[in-house]
Amino acid sequence: MTAMLEVSTASIGYGPIRAVAEASIRVEAGQVVAIVGANGAGKTTLLKSIAGLLPLSSGHIHFEGRDITAMPPHRRVGAGIALSPEGRQVFPDQTVRDNLELGAWSRNLSSSALEDAVEEQFNLFPRLRERQGQMAVTLSGGEQQMLAIARALMSAPRLLLLDEPSLGLAPLVIKEIFAIIRTLRGRGITVLLVEQMANLALGVADRAYVLETGRVTLSGTGAELLLHPQVRAAYLGAGH
Ligand SMILES: Nc1ncnc2c1ncn2[C@@H]1O[C@H](COP(=O)(O)OP(=O)(O)O)[C@@H](O)[C@H]1O
Ligand SMILES: [Mg+2]
Repeated sequence: MTAMLEVSTASIGYGPIRAVAEASIRVEAGQVVAIVGANGAGKTTLLKSIAGLLPLSSGHIHFEGRDITAMPPHRRVGAGIALSPEGRQVFPDQTVRDNLELGAWSRNLSSSALEDAVEEQFNLFPRLRERQGQMAVTLSGGEQQMLAIARALMSAPRLLLLDEPSLGLAPLVIKEIFAIIRTLRGRGITVLLVEQMANLALGVADRAYVLETGRVTLSGTGAELLLHPQVRAAYLGAGH
């Protein structure tokens, strides 16, 4: 069967620095797939290249059977791929509502359809409804993370790329974010999740990959990797 997303022996660099080396990953439609690994392993680099923000130096990316290796980022959004970036990157001096509406730029919606799309996000994230007139900069970290996810969802993606959603957030908020990830899967949205919190990511993931200094070193179901001695020693030991 063809995977929804297939990254084949992708290498990605910054000038002479090779950040990802011959990485191959598959994401089946309807699954949550996690990429775990230490800081600097190349997780963000890989996600950005899937979104089209960084070119591959070699390898290929296929999405729903199409070779998108050379497709520019805006067309990937139109094709059904959305990125919720590391560090949220919401537009600080725009309101919550404006941030959401900007997320739908690729869809050319009528104003009533746009309103419906915003309403859908408010139903998923009730806190954003309460804060819809506030500048994004005034939101808490957790609310900004919710806004970043909601803004990505405004493009109606079939594949959501989610980079470090737990970063810097309190445990209770992290729990809420992971509940949302499960809800999204329940709605048929495929999620490729990058996380340093390996225990949480593997707990939600149908499949997972471990990235170490730019290379995929392990893969399996989330449950398998949670029990894997190498994973436990490196990512789930004391202090994690
Ligand atoms: N803009 C950049 N220029 C040069 N090197 C970079 C840049 N961004 C990331 N890197 C390097 O690429 C490697 C992978 O980084 P990154 O993909 O951000 O890792 P992760 O998301 O797993 O923490 C690191 O060695 C990092 O220092
Ligand atoms: Mg990163």
